Amino acid sequence: MERLISVCLWLILALHLVLRVAGNAEGDALNALKNNLADPNNLLQDWDPTDINPCQWYNITCNRENSVTRIDLGNAKLSGKLVPDLGLLSNLQYLELYSNNISGEIPKEIGNLTNLVSLDLYLNVLTGHIPATLGNLKKLRFLRLNNNSLTGQIPMALTTIDTLQVLDVSNNQLEGDIPVNGSFSLFQPISFSNNGLNYPPLAPPPPPMPSTASTSSDLKQMSSLINNNNHIPSTINEMGPYRILRGRVNSVGFLLDERLMSYLELAGFGSAALIWTFDLPYDLISALVEQWCQKTHTFHLPCRECTITLEDVTLQLRLPIDGNAVTGVSSIFRPAALCYDLLGRSPSEEKFTSLRFSWLKANFEYLPSTANEWVVMQPVRAYIVHLIGGLLMLDANDNTIYLMYLPLLSNLHNTRSYSWGSAMLAILYSEFCRMTYPSSMDIGGCLILLQSWALYRMSFLASISHQSYVFPLVNR
Ligand SMILES: *[C@@H]1O[C@H](CO)[C@@H](O)[C@H](O)[C@H]1NC(C)=O
Ligand SMILES: *[C@@H]1O[C@H](CO)[C@@H](O)[C@H](O)[C@H]1NC(C)=O
Ligand SMILES: *[C@@H]1O[C@H](CO)[C@@H](O)[C@H](O)[C@H]1NC(C)=O
Ligand SMILES: *[C@@H]1O[C@H](CO)[C@@H](O)[C@H](O)[C@H]1NC(C)=O
Ligand SMILES: *[C@@H]1O[C@H](CO)[C@@H](O)[C@H](O)[C@H]1NC(C)=O
Repeated sequence: MERLISVCLWLILALHLVLRVAGNAEGDALNALKNNLADPNNLLQDWDPTDINPCQWYNITCNRENSVTRIDLGNAKLSGKLVPDLGLLSNLQYLELYSNNISGEIPKEIGNLTNLVSLDLYLNVLTGHIPATLGNLKKLRFLRLNNNSLTGQIPMALTTIDTLQVLDVSNNQLEGDIPVNGSFSLFQPISFSNNGLNYPPLAPPPPPMPSTASTSSDLKQMSSLINNNNHIPSTINEMGPYRILRGRVNSVGFLLDERLMSYLELAGFGSAALIWTFDLPYDLISALVEQWCQKTHTFHLPCRECTITLEDVTLQLRLPIDGNAVTGVSSIFRPAALCYDLLGRSPSEEKFTSLRFSWLKANFEYLPSTANEWVVMQPVRAYIVHLIGGLLMLDANDNTIYLMYLPLLSNLHNTRSYSWGSAMLAILYSEFCRMTYPSSMDIGGCLILLQSWALYRMSFLASISHQSYVFPLVNR
């Protein structure tokens, strides 16, 4: 009898241990981290290993299944090392440990965190290599490892993370070649600066322009291209006042609910959706537009002729550039019914042809936590409409968005089959042409593309972007 009781007790004890360990494996992983860190401000004192789960702990966030999704311990004066156990937090999306004094290596087990969206370890004293396993993080969008003491090469595997939008490995001791393919085609030299890295060879030099010693007929031919009577340079040559263009960009201005992301990607707007705040340098934009030649649809710069191409559209914004032509529906018979159908609500019962940005913002910023797939698609459509009207195919003369593109969003699986990139580029070209008239002031079109194209293709501009530009370029 006594033996039976002791067996029972033992079983209960064992079961209890198993349950506790299973119930709190994530808590144990976090405690392993805590035990490896020095925490002079005692921020982690409420990380209590006996709690049923870690969801109430300081700067830990969980999802509805009580699984950890965020660790927010940036700027927390922590020292010590990271632990392999972090790899057990299988639902982790944000690992924010920037601006601490964390040393040692980045555990290769971080590569097991396949739901990770953001890995921010910048401004620490980490050493060792960047683990190649990070290439497994197929949802990663932000990877910032700058200002550490990392050595070795940049793993090629990182180029295969298609979602990667922001990369910063500057200010380390990395060596070897900077990859240029895959997701790395997007990144600027600034992401890699201050290492021992080899920069990729520059694009082949442009075909030689007629030299200054060339015949005057060459020059006459060129000036006939630019100096048409209605073009701005003539105003400049007559010493008229220099104009700076205005744009009326309307960014969405709030952080995107995570649940919308997969649908935005499905529809082809995943990358465009990440543009939510920016500074447009109107002086740069004006200087470029001054050089636009209507006849050839190119910028005539002192050194060469160039233009934004469809390739740039995919490179910068990843919008689809082939497929069906985007043709808006010009007259919508029952706009309210269309809105109820696709957006779940309508600004009016009467006839209308456009939506206000303010209405979209007020109605779609917050998504109820209980929203089902059908309901989630409504703010996705609103978001795309906003992106189209506010950033991508901006109409300079209006503060509203035409309803005409909304029908193309009814089936989000189909939306990607339209060539949004070509439509956008066509509008941008036509805006540049309109702007060559000296009296035009308000420019539309996707100015953010013009900006990022200029900074990407003429990377020397990036380094002087905080200085004022010299005008007018034509007088040089
Ligand atoms: C950590 O949590 C505290 C209290 O909730 C909060 O004030 C602080 O901003 C958080 N830190 C980070 C980096 O999120
Ligand atoms: C940073 O960490 C090291 C040990 O890795 C320690 O010696 C040093 O005092 C820490 N510095 C600060 C400011 O906490
Ligand atoms: C985690 O990563 C390590 C090394 O990268 C690997 O050996 C291990 O099998 C992974 N564990 C799981 C559960 O995936
Ligand atoms: C990173 O390091 C560089 C070079 O030491 C320094 O100029 C820069 O300010 C640092 N970045 C931050 C955010 O402190
Ligand atoms: C980039 O090129 C390297 C070889 O130079 C290759 O290993 C890697 O898989 C390529 N990445 C992509 C995304 O094609």
